[in-house]
Formats: sequence, C-alpha cells, structure tokens
Amino acid sequence: MIKALREWARGHTDRARYSPVGIAFHWVMAFLILFQLGWGWTMSRLPVGADKLYFYQVHSAAGLVVILLAIGRFWWRLAVPGPINDADKQGWQTTVSVAIHWVFYATFFLLPISGWIMWSALAEPGPLYLAGVIPWPSFPLGDMPLTLRWRIMDVAEDVHLVTVFALFLVIPLHVGAALKHHFWDRHDVLRGMLPEIPDEEDPQGDRTHKHREPQPQAG
Ligand code: HEM
Ligand code: HEM
Repeated sequence: MIKALREWARGHTDRARYSPVGIAFHWVMAFLILFQLGWGWTMSRLPVGADKLYFYQVHSAAGLVVILLAIGRFWWRLAVPGPINDADKQGWQTTVSVAIHWVFYATFFLLPISGWIMWSALAEPGPLYLAGVIPWPSFPLGDMPLTLRWRIMDVAEDVHLVTVFALFLVIPLHVGAALKHHFWDRHDVLRGMLPEIPDEEDPQGDRTHKHREPQPQAG
C-alpha cells in the first residue's frame, strides 16, 4: 500500500508540488495552531470565571485534534517524501527551513501532550472531549499526592509555554521565508503548497514562477 501511495504522490512531487494530502495537512494544521495560539493567549488573560472555563474547554477540545492530525501527518511525512523545489538548492537557507519544519513537527506533539498532562493534573476543569464531542481519557494522576501533582503540572506548563514561545519565534520566520521565496525570488515553493490551478484556468499562466534573473554586475 505504501508503494502505491508513494507512486500516487510522485505524480505531484515530481512537479515540485506537495501532494493534496500534504497540502490538506499543512493548511488544516496551520489554521488550528494559529487559532490555538490566539485563543490560548486570550484565555490566559481572562479573569477566573465561567468565560475562562468555556475558553479552556474549547482550547482543549481543539488542541486534542492536533494530536491525531500530528500522528497522521508524521506517518505521512515519513512514508511519502516531499517535493524538491527551487528553494531546496539554497545551502544554509535549506538547512534552516528543514530545521524549522522539524521544530513544527515537535510542537505538534509537545503542545497537546503537555496540555493534556496539565489538564489531568488539575482537579477542576472537568472531563476532556475530542473536538468537544468524543470523550477523551485523562492521565490517571488523581490518586497522587497533591504536591507531586502540582510538580507535574509545573513541568507540563513550562513545556507548554516554552513551546508556545518557540512557535511565536519560528512562525514569522517560516511565513516570511515563504513570502520572500514567492515574491522576491519567484521560486515555486509557495505554489507547491497551494491547491493546484489547472494551467488553462490560471489567469497568471506561467508568468509568476519564472526565477528572478541574477542582477548584472556593475562596471
Ligand atoms: C495543540 C495546540 C495548542 C496550542 C498552540 C496551545 C497554545 C496555548 C497558549 C498560547 C496558551 C497561553 C499561554 C500564556 O500566554 O500563558 C495555552 C495555555 C494553556 N493550554 Fe494550550 N495549546 C495547545 C493545546 C492544548 C491542549 C490539547 C490542552 C489541554 C488538553 C491545553 C491546555 C492548556 C492550559 C491548561 C493552558 C493554561 C496554562 C496556564 O495557565 O499557564 N493546550 N496554550
Ligand atoms: C500562514 C502562512 C504559511 C505559509 C504561507 C506557509 C507556507 C509553507 C510552504 C511554502 C511550505 C513548503 C516549504 C518547503 O517545501 O521548503 C511549508 C511547509 C511547512 N509548513 Fe508552512 N506555511 C504557513 C504557516 C504554517 C504554520 C502556522 C505551520 C505550523 C504550525 C506550518 C508548518 C509547516 C510544516 C511542518 C512544513 C513542512 C511540510 C513537510 O515537508 O512536511 N506552516 N509552509
């Protein structure tokens, strides 16, 4: 089956494009993570009360979906190699971009798992639901001494916050690089991550992905 999937994906990756599965994973998860960052930030600044509890519930319900998507996406990434595009020939820039991709993959696991542990260590917020509907178990921390539970909560909270901070650092670099490659270098990287427009329906035709020619040397 993996061989057949790779074969199918190669029909896209051979043209420097991510497969529709890779594209769907990318944009659904990008949206979810950006939503969670905004929602979580707002949530943490609300005074204790019913609104805050509601924010916690939505935050956990949406965040748990990320774990499942992360498992699927990670499996997909290992089974089906991505495309080689114009930006993959840029030396250190390629190394940095690949490193950032792996940071993203790490955050896809670290954030929901640390959130799940925090939730399980707290007594109050109530049961967890995947996407707000499917019951989700908590870690069995209830019988542990309170001090140990607080210690676990502390570590998980640190991991959650450091990971959030890492995302605030790398997302602007990632998005900035994608826009720079598209608009300045005229590379095919961003096009490869967008749904494909058949050539005959593309109002820009072939014009937008011509590389920027090197500038003539003065003198
Ligand atoms: C998957 C993506 C997730 C992202 C991007 C994310 C992001 C955030 C952010 C930005 C904050 C606020 C940090 C601050 O300014 O203090 C936060 C706090 C929190 N998140 Fe998440 N989170 C995710 C998943 C989860 C999940 C799945 C749970 C629970 C099951 C969870 C539980 C919590 C809790 C309990 C807090 C409050 C921590 C505190 O008050 O210090 N998070 N999260
Ligand atoms: C909103 C603006 C965004 C744009 C324009 C964008 C654009 C891109 C592009 C063009 C690539 C392909 C890079 C390459 O092959 O060299 C890519 C890959 C990737 N992006 Fe984004 N991205 C955005 C947001 C995000 C966010 C918010 C995340 C994570 C939370 C993310 C995670 C990833 C990952 C993990 C890859 C690597 C895919 C793989 O090879 O498996 N992106 N993105």
